[in-house]
This record gives sequence, structure tokens and C-alpha cells, in this order.
Amino acid sequence: MTTAATKAALVTGGGIGIGAATALVLGREGYHVFVTDVLAPEGEAVAAAIRSAGGNAEFARLDVTDTAACTAVVAAANARFGALSALVVNAGIAPRAGYEILTDEKWDEVFDIDLKGQFRLIRAAAPAMSARRQGAIACVSSIAGAVVGWDDHWHYSAAKAGITGLVKAAACELAKHNVRVNGVAPGLIRTAQALSVENSMGPEGLAAAAPGVPLGRIGEASEIAEVLAFLVSEKASYLTGQTLVVDGGLTVGL
Ligand SMILES: NC(=O)c1ccc[n+]([C@@H]2O[C@H](COP(=O)([O-])OP(=O)(O)OC[C@H]3O[C@@H](n4cnc5c(N)ncnc54)[C@H](O)[C@@H]3O)[C@@H](O)[C@H]2O)c1
Repeated sequence: MTTAATKAALVTGGGIGIGAATALVLGREGYHVFVTDVLAPEGEAVAAAIRSAGGNAEFARLDVTDTAACTAVVAAANARFGALSALVVNAGIAPRAGYEILTDEKWDEVFDIDLKGQFRLIRAAAPAMSARRQGAIACVSSIAGAVVGWDDHWHYSAAKAGITGLVKAAACELAKHNVRVNGVAPGLIRTAQALSVENSMGPEGLAAAAPGVPLGRIGEASEIAEVLAFLVSEKASYLTGQTLVVDGGLTVGL
């Protein structure tokens, strides 16, 4: 029989990829997981999988560009759990657009989802976490922006670099309330995003890149999820303000 969880976690973009893998790990670790996404069937399936494994989870449709909805989903979680114990802001898009065709609108769309979308959730969650003097936030950046550049992705790289600044500013502000904020900058991870030929490397591009990764392979979503789960856990109790690069050694390899 499943026992009700006393701590809650919220994951954005939790229907597929890194977000789904993270929701599954957090469910295994005893959180009541609020799986949120714009992809409703996928998010429902992740929540169902957590429950089937004996955990606690529910799906809430959430577009991270909707400020009122971000505030409301956190308020609903706070009403039941007092505050979130863990917040993983993961939702992101990486549309390819050479700078010559990178319109203001395309730039703004990526910033609205990838950077401001994280801020909206952190702003909503931080007060109750701070009042309870407990909780941790993990933000998903990318090696593109945090460490290296990515051609045809100036907007994405700039937004992902911005996340490292957001992590630092939120961490130093919230540390006095015993709330930690960290980030992960994934390398090449086998998800729908990286497998997109239109927007990213595609299956052939990933296969060609794998030998150049010091660990000799493309990463799996679960390998980012485990690090995100560590960052929001008590095991990382003295770690704040950092964005950890998790890339199989790609950016330190020659
Ligand atoms: N896959 C990689 O190689 C890689 C590398 C570095 C960083 N990342 C980052 O990891 C995060 C997860 O990406 P992924 O690889 O799992 O890709 P993915 O495409 O599988 O998942 C992205 C998720 O974000 C959701 N999303 C998109 N727009 C949204 C919106 N407006 N509101 C709410 N949710 C929205 C999608 O529905 C999806 O669930 C992203 O921030 C991405 O930039 C991925």
C-alpha cells in the first residue's frame, strides 16, 4: 500500500525527456510529485507510472509562459504541503534559427520559456520555502551557454547562460532562508530535443558525436535526473549557487 508523501516536488516539462526521468526519480525518493507540462497525455502517463511504482504523483497542465498559471500551480501545492520541498525547472525548447533569421519574436519565445519560465516558478515557490526555511531548487541549463556556444542557437545559448546567473542570484538571496538553488548543464543527452534533426543534432549527429565524448557515449535522461535529484536532496545540504556540468567529459576533453 502506498503511504501519503509528506514532502512535495514540482517538475516543469515533466512529460518527456529529462523532466520525465526526474519526476520518476523524485517519485521513487518519496516525494509527492507534481508533474507539469504542456503535454497532457505524456504528463499523465508519467504521474501514473510513479503511482504504479508505489509513489505519489499527479499531473497538472502548465505552460511556463503563463504567469498566473505558474503562481496558481505552486499555490495549490503549498495549500496541501505547506511549501514545496523541491522545485525542478526543466522545461525548455531549442529551435534552430541562424542569426540572420533570428527575429525578435523567435528570440523572445525562447527567453520566455527557457529563462523567464524558470524565474516564474522560482518567484512563486520561494516565499513558502523561505518561510519554512527548507527546500531546494534545481534549474536545467545547458553546456550551450553555460560553457560553450552553439551555432544557430544564439537565443538558446544566451538564455541558458542566463540561467547560471539566475541560479547565483537566487542562491545568494535565498541562502539566508536556508533554501538552496543550483543548476545542471547537461551535455548531449538522448531525448526528443537532441534527436530532432530540424532543431538539433538528430540521431546521426548524436551517433557521430558519441566517440568525441570522453565517456564514449551520449548521455541518458536518467543520468541528468539523478544529479537533479541529488541537488534537491539533503545530501547536497552545503551546495548552493552552482551549475554542475554533466556531459560525460565533453567540455573538458581535447
Ligand atoms: N537533450 C539534451 O541534449 C539537452 C542538453 C542540454 C540541456 N537540455 C535541456 O534539458 C531540458 C529538458 O529537455 P529535454 O532534452 O528533456 O527535451 P524534451 O524536448 O524531451 O523536453 C522538453 C520538455 O519541455 C516541455 N515544454 C516546452 N515548452 C514548454 C512550455 N511553454 N511550458 C511547459 N513545458 C514546456 C516540453 O513539453 C517537454 O516536456 C531543457 O531545458 C533543455 O534545454 C537538454
